[in-house]
Order: sequence, then structure tokens, then C-alpha cells
Amino acid sequence: MKLSPRRVSQLVTSFREGREIPRDLFDRDVQDQTLALITDGLDKIFASLSGFEYREEYAAGKRNPLITLVVSERKMLCDDVVQLTFRAADGEQLPTWDAGSHLDLHLPSGRRKHYSLCGDRQDRSSYQIAVRRMPAAGGSWEMHELPVGAQVTTRAPRNGFPFVADERALFIAGGIGITPIIAMVREARELGIDWFLVYSGRSRSSLPFLDEIEGWERDRVLIRTDDDHGNPDAAELLQHAPAGGAVYCCGPGPMIDAVLGGFGQASATELHFERFSAPPVVDGVEFEVELARSGRVLTVPADRSMLETVRAEVPDVAYSCRQGFCGTCRTRVLSGTPDHRDSRLSPQEQQNEMLICVSRASGGRVVIDL
Ligand code: FES
Repeated sequence: MKLSPRRVSQLVTSFREGREIPRDLFDRDVQDQTLALITDGLDKIFASLSGFEYREEYAAGKRNPLITLVVSERKMLCDDVVQLTFRAADGEQLPTWDAGSHLDLHLPSGRRKHYSLCGDRQDRSSYQIAVRRMPAAGGSWEMHELPVGAQVTTRAPRNGFPFVADERALFIAGGIGITPIIAMVREARELGIDWFLVYSGRSRSSLPFLDEIEGWERDRVLIRTDDDHGNPDAAELLQHAPAGGAVYCCGPGPMIDAVLGGFGQASATELHFERFSAPPVVDGVEFEVELARSGRVLTVPADRSMLETVRAEVPDVAYSCRQGFCGTCRTRVLSGTPDHRDSRLSPQEQQNEMLICVSRASGGRVVIDL
């Protein structure tokens, strides 16, 4: 019996969410002996840790050390989008990555920003990202001003938007949302799967990577711009959704919301998406947050995130993705009952920590270590 890529993807997702090892990989009602041995082995390892001083540097510090990167090249790809190439400051090879991965960059100003990798996955000597300069001053302006030779730090790439190569896939990219998608389409082309790309944006001059994309199979690519066709609706975005296949979407909030709203009518069976802005608060209620270090009590309105509210009081609070997957805004909870809405923390971690960009409380007050 062979496991299908989709089954493997389901297993990985359920393990990451619930930290549960399945009884049997093929969904039979029996205990798989190999998995039983693995589970026993893990039990023994964790039991031995209980009487052992386990220091933090044994974990993330050594496995995923800080890497200093140097800007080695800058190139404007289109209006307001700069492509930055980084190399390791020590000249060493860089950690590998796969389609959908991002870099969590620590900028010279102290800001942390994450950007999808969009260069050549086989090239271990450099990383490439593309950054659109947003209208409001902030991290994107700082990225645009980084000169060749500037240094930033990061850790090995992480992937919160993995591509599972199945037989058929529709890719939908909005503007700078092409950055994770282009790596996926390149892989789909290499693997020879049945794919289609819808690439949407304000105008042609706002779309990065057009040269490369227009060299791909013309019958598999739809480039559509708002200045010619108006804003896209769900039916147009999803018209090439493959029956029984997957849809991968990255773009601005309204595009993601349109795809989410129309996906029920499409014949595809899986939807994977990544926003590059904070998602709207759904079913929120007003609650209070107390900042333990200052004693300040803030009211978080039903339609605003805790992060937004806290930032007004603590402007340098750390955050990056604002979507509950990067872990940057992880904060210790001293009292109160959080309503956890992230996809990152394990149930154990959620007992005394929360990701304040998406998680909140169902009324009452939470006291956090800020
Ligand atoms: S900012 Fe990424 S998890 Fe909160």
C-alpha cells in the first residue's frame, strides 16, 4: 500500500495541530506496530527528560541559530517592488528551503518582518525576496532603503504555507502575493503536474516577475489586471479550480476573502492560503488586557486585534506575520483565559502563552507579561 501525498499532508497537519500520532497510517482500526514502537520510544525519551536539567540552548538555539545575511544585490522588478539578494556574511552555504517558505528578518531598526522566498531553491549560496513599498512608512520602506552591503539577521526559513505536490493545482496570486506562489509554480512545472496560474494586480506595471511568467505555457496562465477588467470576483478567480485538486492563494485581504467565499461552489477539494495582511477579526467580543509591567488596562474592541490595541501603548512590541503562524508575538499569560486562535502553539504552550496577533479572550480580562 502506498500513501498518497494528500494523506501525508493530512497526517502532517493533524500531527502539527494536535500533536497526536495516528494509530494507523491507512485509517484501519488496528494499532500499527511501527507507530507503536515510535510512540514508546518517544515516551521513554520524554520520561528521561523529566529528571534532567533541560536547557533552552539545547533546543531552538543550536538547531536554528541566528544567521547574518548581507545584501549582495538590489534590483527593481516593477513599480515599487525591489528584489533583494542576500548571502551569508560568513560565506557559508545557507539552509535549504521549500516552496512557500519565508524568512523572518530582523532589520537594523529592530523591526521584524517576514518575506516569502522567491529565488532558486537549488541555490544554497543566496536567498531572494521581493518587497513592495507600502504607502505608509514602515518595514517595507526600510527594506527598500537597504543598500548593498547592509546586514540583517534571520534564522533558517520556515514554512507556514507548504505546497504539497498533488496531481492538480490552481495557483492564485494577487500582486506581491506572487512571491510564495512563483516558487510553487516552478516546482509544479518541474514535477509535471497539472497546474494553472491566475495572476492578478492593479496594472501590468505593478506585477513583478512578468518576464518569467509570460515565458511559461500560455494556456496555463491567466494574467488579469484591474485597470482592464475591474476587480476580480470569486467565480473568475476560481474558474480553473481543478476537480478534486487543490487551490493555493496568496494576495490582499479582499482577494482571499473572495476565494474563501466562493470556494464552496468550486469543484476543488483543498484550499491553502496565505494573507499578507492581518485577517479580519471574526466573532470577536470586547475584553480587557492588563499589561503587567505598567499596570495599564486596555480595552480590546470586538473588531480589533489584541496586538493592534497593545501596540498603541507599547509601540515596539514584537510581531511579524499578524496571522498566528510565525510565533513572533508570543507573550506569557499571567492570568485570565485566552481564546486561542493561532496555528502555532501546542496545547501545552497554550496553557501559559498566547499569540496576541490573533488570539484574544471571550470577555473578562487577561493579564499578560508586557
Ligand atoms: S505576529 Fe506572527 S504569530 Fe503573531
